[in-house]
Amino acid sequence: MATNTCFALYNISDPLKFITMLLTKPSGVGLGVLILILFSIFSCNTLSSVSAPSDTTDAHPHSFSRPDEVKATHLDLDIKVDFDKKQIEGTAKWDIQIIKGDKLILDTWDLEIEKVTISEDGNAETSSSFSLGPEKEDLGRSLAISITPATKWVKVYYKTGQACPALLWLEPSQTLGKQLPLLFSQGQPNLTRSWIPCQDTPGVKFTYNAKVQVPAAMLCLMSANNPREKRADGQYNFTMENPVPAYLVAIAAGDLVYEQIGPRAGVYGEPAIAEQAYVEFNRVESFIEAAESIAGPYRWNGFDILVLPPSFPFGGMENPQLTFVTPTVVVGDRSMVSLIAHELAHSWSGNLVTNASWNDFWLNEGITTYLEWRIMEATEGKDLRDMIILNGLEDFKKEVAALGEDNMDTALKVDLKGRNPVVGMSSTAYEKGANFMLLVEQSVGREKMDAFLKKYFNDFAFKTITTEEFIAYLKTNLLNKYAPGLNVDEWVYQPGIPSNLPETKSEKFARLDEITSKINAWSSPTRTILSGLTAQEWVYFINKLPKELDNRTMKSLDLNFNFTSSNNAEIKAAWFALTIYNGYSENIMPQIKDFLHKVGRTKFLEPIYTSFVKRGFKEQALEIYISARPFYHSLAREKLDPVVGFTK
Ligand code: BES
Ligand code: ZN
Repeated sequence: MATNTCFALYNISDPLKFITMLLTKPSGVGLGVLILILFSIFSCNTLSSVSAPSDTTDAHPHSFSRPDEVKATHLDLDIKVDFDKKQIEGTAKWDIQIIKGDKLILDTWDLEIEKVTISEDGNAETSSSFSLGPEKEDLGRSLAISITPATKWVKVYYKTGQACPALLWLEPSQTLGKQLPLLFSQGQPNLTRSWIPCQDTPGVKFTYNAKVQVPAAMLCLMSANNPREKRADGQYNFTMENPVPAYLVAIAAGDLVYEQIGPRAGVYGEPAIAEQAYVEFNRVESFIEAAESIAGPYRWNGFDILVLPPSFPFGGMENPQLTFVTPTVVVGDRSMVSLIAHELAHSWSGNLVTNASWNDFWLNEGITTYLEWRIMEATEGKDLRDMIILNGLEDFKKEVAALGEDNMDTALKVDLKGRNPVVGMSSTAYEKGANFMLLVEQSVGREKMDAFLKKYFNDFAFKTITTEEFIAYLKTNLLNKYAPGLNVDEWVYQPGIPSNLPETKSEKFARLDEITSKINAWSSPTRTILSGLTAQEWVYFINKLPKELDNRTMKSLDLNFNFTSSNNAEIKAAWFALTIYNGYSENIMPQIKDFLHKVGRTKFLEPIYTSFVKRGFKEQALEIYISARPFYHSLAREKLDPVVGFTK
């Protein structure tokens, strides 16, 4: 590329022909010109261009960076958030640690790089050469920057592009308040590179400071120490003193307010939802205490929750000190607070001890889901915990049935190199992973389990860990002594449902099994048989209903239990998927369409759109999808485009 650029400088379209022509000229002029050209090609390569990698490595399969050569250790971000242009512009200054070599490699995605400077004394900056590697699907482009052995920091001047998959810019109409626009980012798994040039692998951690300019009427928040009130000038400063991986750097800005819940907890949200959220989450301090008694001290500066508009693509995202959640958790009856327990649990598994690559994702999500169960048991009782486990197992079993029991994606350790890392977000990582931890607990006893967990989170605090390292540590510190015969390899490296899956039972679910097995056209359950059920029970009940129920039975179920107008999005989503499957949806299409336009959580959308397609209503699904799509985040689009056959 550099060579071509140099030839282009001389305006020579066919370099080979030109060189041959010079060489065949007997005069010294030809040779002289040739030497001059060769010299400048050489200097182009060394001075103005540094080669940028086109591929990732096995250690960091979803990043171009080479942290074992030059590592980025601290970020100073200085950016302006421009809502008119839907663009972030500014500088990312990276302190570096040089192990070997003469270039720093960062990841970028759709970024416009204006210039790059470096500093040897930590003060004066001089321009440095850089180059961008080729665009790779799902990965963006590498950015290689020349450094000298004495370089202390590297500063990248950049702008985000139009695609920018991490950011979702919401119009005022897409917010509750309808007055101001709102912005939020979603970094996991590998999208932070689309708004900050960075070493975007969970295997690299860094501390950060940020200076952010937003419009004056807005509050800006990050996964860091946060302001509680708006500043008149819209200028905010943030610090994150603990090292975090790039996927945990997050930002949000809009018309947001703060409500304190407890000594370490608070909630942010639009004014119209903050009060309700405060009530919904007011037991979070007891969750933190429960988690500490299992996993050791909470090592972050506070635990706040940001309730986002419904386009948020997930239930929750564990951004340190500021968990992002969907507003659909604010139900009014605390029925979805296990989601908060889950995101809180990531403060240990994921944020404190991080999976080294997305191939080890089960370490983040499986251990977190196990801790979520433990927190729920401690605060809400074992009954609820068992129901949560069983609903998760239903999902996992469905996944194994759909993928096939030989599919290697149903092993805990997966190989995602060359694939979009978001594929790893499977029930296998969550449910099989958590059941593995439950099996370990049942094999060694709770006391030893908890002592192990505390030691583990302490020994690996602020570090990253691979599956192999975790298993070795688990064996040395727990299993070799107390459960040497456990079939760890089968769980971790073999696909399918392991032979010794822990058995979880729920009397409440057993009763529902009995009821659903008897449902047919003439006997749908009455309100007296099913009253006062929890959300977990309703979800289980709907998922266990026969798939081909007739309209009359569906109608009577809906009349008795109001599924179509439930407050709980999880219940609604399960119900809608079923109604589409058996044709009852014809009667409630406006409500289904409304839901698909109002809720952006992929987990709810996917079964509904899938149900449409399975029943042969692909065109109808596509029509709804096209109008709702602008309101979905890129990660939701990525997942749903193929489901409905959408092409850009
Ligand atoms: N970290 C995940 C969300 C995630 C995973 C985002 C992979 C991008 C890639 C988060 O902690 C999570 O698991 N969310 C769940 C919550 C649920 C399990 C309670 C969700 O959103 O469904
Ligand atoms: Zn999680």
